[in-house]
Amino acid sequence: MCGIIGYVGTSPAKPIILEGLKRMEYRGYDSAGIAVFENGKISSEKKAGKLQVLTDEVSEDHWSGTAGIGHIRWATHGIPNDVNAHPHTDCTGKIYLIHNGIIENFHELRERLTAEGHEFTTQTDTEVLTHLIESHLPGNSLSEAVKASLKEVIGTYGLAVVSEMDPDTIVAARLGSPLILGIIGDGEYMIASDATAILPHTREVIYLDEGEVVTVNRKGFTITTVDNTTVEKNSSKIEWDIQQAEKQGYDHFMLKEIMEIPRVIEDGLRGRLIIEDGIAHFGGFLEYEDKWRSIERIVIVACGGAAIASRVGEYMLEEYASIPVKVEIGSEFRYRKPVLDEHTAVVIVSQSGETADTIASLREAKRQGVFTFGIVNVVGSTIAREVDAGMYIHAGPEVAVASTKVMSGMVAMFSLLTLAIGRQRGMSLVTGKRIAKELQNVSLLAEKMLKKNTETIKSLAKKYATYDNAFFLGRKYNMPSAFEGALKFKEIAYVHAEGYPSGELKHGPLALLDDRFFVCAITPKDSVYEKNLSNIQEVRARKGVVLALATEGDTGIEQYVDDVIYMPKTLEMLTPILSMIVVQLLAYYTAVERKCDIDQPRNLAKSVTVE
Ligand code: F6R
Repeated sequence: MCGIIGYVGTSPAKPIILEGLKRMEYRGYDSAGIAVFENGKISSEKKAGKLQVLTDEVSEDHWSGTAGIGHIRWATHGIPNDVNAHPHTDCTGKIYLIHNGIIENFHELRERLTAEGHEFTTQTDTEVLTHLIESHLPGNSLSEAVKASLKEVIGTYGLAVVSEMDPDTIVAARLGSPLILGIIGDGEYMIASDATAILPHTREVIYLDEGEVVTVNRKGFTITTVDNTTVEKNSSKIEWDIQQAEKQGYDHFMLKEIMEIPRVIEDGLRGRLIIEDGIAHFGGFLEYEDKWRSIERIVIVACGGAAIASRVGEYMLEEYASIPVKVEIGSEFRYRKPVLDEHTAVVIVSQSGETADTIASLREAKRQGVFTFGIVNVVGSTIAREVDAGMYIHAGPEVAVASTKVMSGMVAMFSLLTLAIGRQRGMSLVTGKRIAKELQNVSLLAEKMLKKNTETIKSLAKKYATYDNAFFLGRKYNMPSAFEGALKFKEIAYVHAEGYPSGELKHGPLALLDDRFFVCAITPKDSVYEKNLSNIQEVRARKGVVLALATEGDTGIEQYVDDVIYMPKTLEMLTPILSMIVVQLLAYYTAVERKCDIDQPRNLAKSVTVE
């Protein structure tokens, strides 16, 4: 949430910053702003609305400065307007600051600084930082003033500051919000909250850790803690490709990312399956085999779509690895009093690796001394670095705010984990081989399904986009796909949709059913097929309109429903990989019909780095 960027070097900073903001726009799109050094002075502009509004505003500004900062905002404190947009400045107008996070003690600080004579012009929590730095600046360098200020702050931040007192220097710091330093070459650097903004310029990056502050100008950079202890850090290479973060001819990132799912599954499994032995092998398991053997219970913690994908993992692990599993929502887990012990493994699941509640849950688990394992997409992210062990999803950058391909990747990772733990706990070779073989094949099935069914889904979306409400039903492995369908319909198509376990509808929600509802019933030919058919009948008996997701060849289902989308046959535990794709694509085309802003749905942002 919120994207911050800074550049110092020899090229004009404005286009580099605006391009970087464009690449991070999924982090927030309420307002945007920029501040660039011009011969020792700072020129700044900020505008409410999408980045394009700012870009148009500064198009005539012939700024030639080669150092500056930029921000895109997802509002927390203060409505999205020009005034509350970042950068914020102090009373002198010589300090400019951008911030991602929340300053929790801003109220006290604001009262104190106001009493000291500082004048506040915005409703944001961030503005206190500019005045605080201003108050520490006399007699100090910018870097010293920033560090002194941060000691007074309670909350979270990824921030960058520039001041006319220290021309062409950026001071940036992180605590609870990601921050990366990009090394372009001698005298040319970037800072950003997201690797995608840095990627067009360099692959060489340094990930800042919690409580670290970087001071960067053309002479180089220094990293210290807030307490001013110097920190030596090694750089890493970003493995992602720049094309992966571009639309490549698709109308939306979401569609491109759905179409990438077969490739994502294939990449995620590559080198991690030995079919003839029926095993999965990957570092996060092999290096901790004894530890896994001692585990008696797994608690999975995630938020949003990641928690939905985790529910598939829960069912797989319990059925095939015979280990008790519970899925917890990060924002709850962190505040209740979870009972964990040395035989519990906490599995942390996150695309971004930066979700605030998920990180807090990981830290709670670590505080209790339990083994933590991450299933994460973004390499080098906070969660990836803080877990004891883990596996990367290897899906490449996911840009659309609504997660799709990474959710499939998460399910694929859970399949590997199930195979690895299951085989350790008595799963037979025959079962192991069957799972491994089907898993290997599922990307091909997904690819074929996309080729065959995309047009059908598109035309059905035209019909169902006219409904204001929807129920998504699924049982056992496809209950999470029902949740996913409902989430995506709400999130990108702004349709009121509810996801339920199929058997649960008659316990209350069925009372809502009327002609403004359609019911999407996920009904593959699996162990609960007949039960699901009965639930469809219950809906039909009340004149409900039903769209079924069924297994290829099950033409019999057509007599009970209004429309059918067919999915290829696969192992029951892998069916959600296919059904999730279908409901995501249905939501996508429904959103197209309803003319929604698909990649940037209203009120949302990717990477939820605030509570
Ligand atoms: C749903 C969606 C969100 C994320 C959630 C977790 O389409 O995109 O619900 O799944 O914010 O994000 P990560 O996986 O980055 O922790």
